[in-house]
Amino acid sequence: MKKRYGLLAHPVKHSLSPVMYDAAFEVMGLDAHYEVFDVPPEGLGEFMKRAVSENITGLSVSLPHKEAIIPYLKYTTADVRAIGATNTVVYCGNNEFFGLNTDYKGALKAIKERYKKLCGRVNLKDKIVVLLGAGGSSRAIAYALLKAGAHVWVKNRTKEKSLKMAVDFAEMFRAEIHADDWESLNTGDILINTTSFWLNNKGISEDELPFFCNREFLREFEVVMDISYNNGMDNFPHPLKTPLILAAEEERVATITGEKMLLHQAVEQFKYWFDEPAPVWVMKEALEAKLASTHF
Ligand code: ATR
Repeated sequence: MKKRYGLLAHPVKHSLSPVMYDAAFEVMGLDAHYEVFDVPPEGLGEFMKRAVSENITGLSVSLPHKEAIIPYLKYTTADVRAIGATNTVVYCGNNEFFGLNTDYKGALKAIKERYKKLCGRVNLKDKIVVLLGAGGSSRAIAYALLKAGAHVWVKNRTKEKSLKMAVDFAEMFRAEIHADDWESLNTGDILINTTSFWLNNKGISEDELPFFCNREFLREFEVVMDISYNNGMDNFPHPLKTPLILAAEEERVATITGEKMLLHQAVEQFKYWFDEPAPVWVMKEALEAKLASTHF
């Protein structure tokens, strides 16, 4: 029987994962199928109970299940336990599942790749990172950057969450992590938006842009990254570029668009599922073709 893989999320509107995996499975000649499992939070327990009998072998886990799925997993990696979220699940036989986190690896790869292109230097040690948001994605990215020796300033609308994140990570790493005020204009080397601001502010006009699109603030950074990409948001003026990315580009600041992290976390996920390297170029081309041809 074909092995079933898929994206577990809710709601799922315009996921880009199936095109990447369909292309990868085909070129690798794998007897596997990638689906979308749109499961609301209250259905998660039932879904996990049926997963083995339904031949589900691997899951890409997205919002809102990244933390909630952990109690259903027999094993997790140390990364998952530190971050508090998983985005990759593998069936390990005997009715047991294993949870990993490839988000942090994907983010790190995207940042290093950009720096390498920019100046040939990929060492992030002692870089100052301003991280917007304190949800699961932010925690994964902070984990990656602290591990690489960068110092992180977290700004979150709800300060208790950024404070908790700073406390959770402070003891784990030598690099510093601090919670900063949400709208403070303290800058650094790398700015990363992990908030769902664009999703929650559809149709926002130029004069309603948030503080982090302030031009003087942006100008101070070497690199600006936004993990959002157009997955159906009707306020994106460009298929890939959020208003933050466009503003940074206008200021001649190097940028990283959201599909880069999406690609690299998927490439890492593939390795765990199949124990062999992913066909990166095939996945990249499939993703870019889908983005270029989609009019949301
Ligand atoms: P993810 O797993 O992708 O990080 P999440 O856990 O839902 O998603 O986190 C969403 C983040 O976006 C949070 O940091 C949230 O801030 P709060 O902790 O204050 O809720 C942030 N966020 C969402 N909408 C926002 C908005 N309109 N302005 C600022 N931050 C916002």
